[in-house]
Amino acid sequence: MSSILYQLLYVSTAVVDLNERELETLLGPSRLKNEAADVTGLLLHLHDARGAYFVQHLEGPQRAVQQAFERISRDELHVQATVLHCGQAERRAFAAWPMRLLMLEAEPALDLAKTVAGPNRTNLVDLLADRSGVQSLITSCAAVAH
Ligand SMILES: Cc1cc2nc3c(=O)[nH]c(=O)nc-3n(C[C@H](O)[C@H](O)[C@H](O)COP(=O)(O)O)c2cc1C
Repeated sequence: MSSILYQLLYVSTAVVDLNERELETLLGPSRLKNEAADVTGLLLHLHDARGAYFVQHLEGPQRAVQQAFERISRDELHVQATVLHCGQAERRAFAAWPMRLLMLEAEPALDLAKTVAGPNRTNLVDLLADRSGVQSLITSCAAVAH
């Protein structure tokens, strides 16, 4: 197992607005794959009046994370998967989670992002276009996800 920990953060736009039960079903086999590859992380499903978006943080050995992302980015359930950040990480933020799922409406997501850093943002599209805003959101979720 590689000792270098790698992380990748992307945002995407959902094509179908899946509910929590449907997403948990999707994540069943995904979690098994992640576990086998030593990948952990968080999948955020964000929803507002305009649509639904994903933010996913993947962490693990570099090759495993990149392979997972290649697979995920080809998935037709979402489009415009855009990497906001990738690189070495010091420690896992979601060590206990082969893929934690959190569903958030726009308002709590904007509130969570605000609690850590960055200027106020008034809508999800603005928040998701901004790397520091999304990273704030992930940091906040890591704090509440345990
Ligand atoms: C938003 C989203 C997140 C996903 N996350 C993962 C994941 O963390 N790990 C994984 O193996 N598959 C994940 N999947 C499923 C993959 O995209 C893919 O369908 C699955 O791995 C099967 O790939 P394969 O048919 O190439 O084996 C995700 C799909 C979506 C739409």
